[in-house]
Amino acid sequence: DPSIVSVQELVKEPLDSIPESFIRLDQTRPHVLPSKSDHIPTIPTIDMVKILEPSDRSLNDELERLHFACSEWGIFQLVNHGVSLSLLQKLGLEIEEFFKLPLEEKMKYKPNPGESEGYGNVMRSEKNVLDWGDRLFMAINPISLRKPHLFPELPAPLRSSLETYIKELKKIALQILRSLAICLHIDTNVIMELFEEEKEFQALRMTYYPPCPQPELVIGLTPHSDATAITILHQINCVNGLQVKRNGVWLPIDILPDAFVVNVGDIMEILSNGTYHSIEHQVMVNSESERMSLAMFFNPKLDAQVGPAASLISLKNQALFRNITMNEYVQGLFSQKMDGKSYLDRMR
Ligand code: SIN
Ligand code: FE2
Repeated sequence: DPSIVSVQELVKEPLDSIPESFIRLDQTRPHVLPSKSDHIPTIPTIDMVKILEPSDRSLNDELERLHFACSEWGIFQLVNHGVSLSLLQKLGLEIEEFFKLPLEEKMKYKPNPGESEGYGNVMRSEKNVLDWGDRLFMAINPISLRKPHLFPELPAPLRSSLETYIKELKKIALQILRSLAICLHIDTNVIMELFEEEKEFQALRMTYYPPCPQPELVIGLTPHSDATAITILHQINCVNGLQVKRNGVWLPIDILPDAFVVNVGDIMEILSNGTYHSIEHQVMVNSESERMSLAMFFNPKLDAQVGPAASLISLKNQALFRNITMNEYVQGLFSQKMDGKSYLDRMR
């Protein structure tokens, strides 16, 4: 099938040169900072247990740190998240097994024509340059959104680990969102109404980034911000590669081995009327190690009206974004090429 490109297949043979379809224009090649520099700040670390600690003050110290992380950065690493290491290890191995399946097995999961869910390397970046990575992307909840040929057809052990993982991550996501409502002084019920049980929109993307003989010519994942409330990322085999744009500069980030990376997405930026920052990010690959990741996207229900929370708007603080349904936001985004934060900017 010529419409599916698998980078993993491509690197099975030694490569003399990188195929042209992956080579980026000079200006869009990632800029790598010296990784040993003392000046590279690390992203904030938030302790899940401390967020939940009862406090006699309205905002405990960890919630203040969470507020700082989401407003000044838009990304943090979450430690003590409570998901067992044995589940993470098992899931990691099963995802690795999935990508090791013969191509014709994986092709069963190819996207239906015109759709973005499924296996492959979907061309979404500028000038149709391909990303150096293979992915499996699929909607998980509400259950009615599951495509019959995707999640239900996954190898049983992987499916069962994912079911557990999805539930655990949903709990974490809801807890973080509740905490963010407290930080923002928004009625938690107003936020929780958007993520109504059984209706919240949850999706997963697992990605396999093979080593690349000339990593400086390609990119693992094109710069973008996430169309989510929040995204929780698990760096499966602890190989770094994620970079974030901060004050106009790309920063490589170093993730603690057992931490999740949580980033604020566009929907949270809208809900918070710009107080929280949907961070632009990209993925770099390297010449030595394969990298694997699992991203969980957590969103309001598709028919939710998303706009700046009413309690944040006043004569002095005008709404910075217009209202849109979650469904319109997602559909609109998927009909675009990925281009940094340009789509969110059109909601202003
Ligand atoms: C990754 O780190 O592999 C994925 C990051 C993202 O989902 O944007
Ligand atoms: Fe992302």
